[in-house]
Amino acid sequence: MAKAIEDIQTLGEIMQAAHEKLSRDHWDYLIGGAETETTLLRNRQALEEIAFRPRVLNNVSEIDPSTELLGKKTSLPILLAPIGSAEQLDPEGMLPAAKAAAEFGVGIVKSSVATPDIEEAAEKSGADLIFQLYVRGDDAWIYEHLKRVEAAGYVGFCLTVDSAQYGRRERDKVKGFRPTQRSRVSGVNYQAALDWGVVERLRTQTELPLILKGIATAEDAEIAANLGVDVIYISNHGGRQLDHGRGAIEVLPEVVDAVGDQATVIIDGGFYHGADILKAIALGANAVGLGRLYGFGLGAFGQAGVKRVLEILAEEIISAMALLGVTNLAQLSPDHVHPAAPVRLPNPTSAFHLFDVDDGPY
Ligand SMILES: Cc1cc2nc3c(=O)[nH]c(=O)nc-3n(C[C@H](O)[C@H](O)[C@H](O)COP(=O)(O)O)c2cc1C
Repeated sequence: MAKAIEDIQTLGEIMQAAHEKLSRDHWDYLIGGAETETTLLRNRQALEEIAFRPRVLNNVSEIDPSTELLGKKTSLPILLAPIGSAEQLDPEGMLPAAKAAAEFGVGIVKSSVATPDIEEAAEKSGADLIFQLYVRGDDAWIYEHLKRVEAAGYVGFCLTVDSAQYGRRERDKVKGFRPTQRSRVSGVNYQAALDWGVVERLRTQTELPLILKGIATAEDAEIAANLGVDVIYISNHGGRQLDHGRGAIEVLPEVVDAVGDQATVIIDGGFYHGADILKAIALGANAVGLGRLYGFGLGAFGQAGVKRVLEILAEEIISAMALLGVTNLAQLSPDHVHPAAPVRLPNPTSAFHLFDVDDGPY
């Protein structure tokens, strides 16, 4: 039985509460990936193939897990990633998550395919918002969105570039389930037609930090950085787009090598615990995006659930930093990690080893 929020002490309990609360269709939409879900599983596998090399006797009585992202202070080195059709998790869409992000002092990316709209999300949340666009029109259409985003006070503009086609989510397909926002699919060919020229022209249109989400190789990271993209966002969309990709964290070292200090590096995909996040920071990421993890909080308990996710994550991060022997994030380096054999086979919820969430047959 899932617990009341006041009794929850671990992230696994929040996952379990979301599993109990959400309909099967909405759970599958949240948790699932594309095709055989190999990319999805590799996100976890790759994280579990990293062990820590802790240092001791460093006086860790005061720990500061905060950092800066896009010129703003963030209380943890994280960003809430865009979740489309968030209204399947909470009737108010992404707004409760944005309010929790504001309360906790972390940023959030608003998906162009999640309610509420650009202006309402900004007015009602008070959060440091980044806008993420799926392109459904020509350059002029993109710039119209950009102007609205600038006028509403967003702190960054993000193009998702790993979605030339909508991933084949078999969990949804076998049930004939279509997420709320998939009914509005006109103009998808503009997303397929995106190229570097669009990015180059977009760069000339705004002073806002520009983020490309869905970079998966050093080659593309280098092109982006040379075009003046501010943030290289490494992502395989949580395993929801191309199947048989690498685990996200496997991509991180080559991207960090390729861009050096030229751009900020964010990564997401399979990060469900404080320790996971610190592995990415040690390998050179500036921040880590969270998708499903805060989706569990939103789906189970709305704003309070997302806040509880962030609180527990902060406890986990502070605990792991102390045990690694660092007092701030800048002290983490590749010397703190080491290759290791994974201890279990991954499944979509294997990060929460106490909870066996069995969905039964389709
Ligand atoms: C339910 C759901 C909806 C998503 N919608 C979007 C979206 O609208 N735009 C986007 O760029 N990424 C979207 N993503 C991908 C996330 O932003 C993020 O890259 C991914 O969830 C990270 O993996 P994680 O869930 O393992 O943390 C979505 C992910 C999920 C789980």
